[in-house]
Amino acid sequence: MKTRNSDPESGRYGHLTGMAGGDRLLRYESVSEDSIRVMVQTFYGCIREHPRLGEIFSRRLEGRWDEHLLKMESFWQSVLLKNGAYKGKPVPAHLKQKELLGSDYGQWLGVFRPVVRELFVPDLADEIIVLAERIAQSLWLATFGHAGSAPPPELSATTAQCGGAAW
Ligand code: HEM
Repeated sequence: MKTRNSDPESGRYGHLTGMAGGDRLLRYESVSEDSIRVMVQTFYGCIREHPRLGEIFSRRLEGRWDEHLLKMESFWQSVLLKNGAYKGKPVPAHLKQKELLGSDYGQWLGVFRPVVRELFVPDLADEIIVLAERIAQSLWLATFGHAGSAPPPELSATTAQCGGAAW
């Protein structure tokens, strides 16, 4: 994983790179606190518009969105920068959401993948997506798994397209 710590000297866009022929001119070529913040903000901006998941998040996080986004920044920093910023427990946080369906994790990834592909250069996006898929698989197993069951194939399909048209 290419990482780079937040560097005020470099300026906000110092770690972006040009992409010829892409739909977006600049993509992050490394993970940093800044690029993680943009990823988290963009992802939750998108998921709030998802017809099913948006409702679930809104119900749970009414009045607590800022706190959740900060927590998710620390979560992704721990995953991608390995800085130990996140101290929580994702499994109980999802187990208590009795309304979750097995298909919701695939829907979640259907929003996450195009956001990450839009923001990061392709190799880095692939790495981030694989990590998210592994976490989604373990959350799925914790929530819906039983002896001998395996997560559904859409939790490891790394070939998602941009556009977020998974719903
Ligand atoms: C099925 C799709 C998902 C839904 C609907 C969902 C929903 C939520 C909600 C509503 C919360 C806030 C819980 C609360 O504070 O009461 C939450 C927390 C969290 N979610 Fe998810 N989530 C999903 C999938 C994922 C995935 C795939 C990841 C990781 C890749 C993830 C990582 C987290 C983390 C780290 C927290 C914070 C847990 C804590 O420490 O409190 N979620 N999720």
